[in-house]
Amino acid sequence: MKLNIPDNIAEIIPYPPGKPLDELEREYGITNSIKLASNENAWGPSPKAVAAIEETLSGLHRYPDGSSFYLTEALARWLGAGMDEIVLGNGSNEVIEFLIKAFVRTGDEVITSHPSFLMYQKFVQVRGGKNTVLPLKEMEHDLDAIVEAVNDRTRLIFLDNPNNPCGTFFSGQRFENFLHSLPESVILVLDEAYVDFVEPEERIDILSYIRKSESIPAVVGLRTFSKAFGLAGLRVGFGLMHREIAETLHRVRQPFNINLPAQVGGLAALSDTAHYNKTLNGTRAGRKWLSEQVEKLGCRAYPSHTNFFLIDVRGDATELYEAMLHKGVIVRSMKAYGYPDFIRITVGTEAENTRFIGALADCLDGLGYV
Ligand SMILES: Cc1ncc(COP(=O)(O)O)c(C=O)c1O
Repeated sequence: MKLNIPDNIAEIIPYPPGKPLDELEREYGITNSIKLASNENAWGPSPKAVAAIEETLSGLHRYPDGSSFYLTEALARWLGAGMDEIVLGNGSNEVIEFLIKAFVRTGDEVITSHPSFLMYQKFVQVRGGKNTVLPLKEMEHDLDAIVEAVNDRTRLIFLDNPNNPCGTFFSGQRFENFLHSLPESVILVLDEAYVDFVEPEERIDILSYIRKSESIPAVVGLRTFSKAFGLAGLRVGFGLMHREIAETLHRVRQPFNINLPAQVGGLAALSDTAHYNKTLNGTRAGRKWLSEQVEKLGCRAYPSHTNFFLIDVRGDATELYEAMLHKGVIVRSMKAYGYPDFIRITVGTEAENTRFIGALADCLDGLGYV
């Protein structure tokens, strides 16, 4: 075998293939571990989605509807959008990939922040584009630096808003000023994976900007069923955009990119307001309680608009991560993101949060951090 791997592909660092929970438990000799590391929904999937999926299983021998008609129709109603302003993806990850496939040529530039969601940069690299990566400023997207960095090769700007991992958010006049400082030739992508957790009055009315499209750049909003709807394992997300952009993305997608359970589960989850509200209320209450407890332990809890937040543990975060793992509590060390003393945790159920605080207190004590 003699492979000829293109340089841009050879340089990609593969996504670290985390171990299945069962394997981790066996390795560490623990049981009943809790995972607060991946910003998932602590209250599980929408029960309505689970029931609807169970009902469709006997139809798995058929290809799914290539247009995801019913899910798109329900989303259009939910968002007040046209069906032709929505593009569904195998997770919002796939919509990110569509945007880069469709709009980035070799050598074109894409602006992202660091730290932020890592997939934007990866897809740009696959496409042979150039990543322009700007550091966050005080944990927020540095909008002035982004405006400065735009040039005539810039095609896309990806901003996760709220930002992962910092949980910060911008809207209102800051967004308005930013948008008007950009040339019309770029596409501004706001990745709103966590926007359900933001207070409604603070959110950006993406649709109104999509429809303006005169003397401002095109705006695309990305949303997902993986967080507030609790369907991360199903892989379904969507983008909200001008119909010309949507039409362009449909050209690059596979015909059956949304599988049958995902279409049916997403549709049912959208109507499950009880589960959605339980998630939002539980997250808000849990985040407040956890932040207070963490501060009582002498750490610093950073404010967040999401279902996760950063904690300065005042010591090496990776050692703390290891110590917590031995107690069956899985958190995320932020060392690789450039915050060596920080962990990121996802808000859990009341029982999980209580267990986390107990384990944190023990580990901080054991390591002598605070
Ligand atoms: C900012 C951000 N965008 C997108 C995603 C991916 O969402 P999906 O599961 O819909 O692909 C994540 C997942 O963690 C995320 O943090």
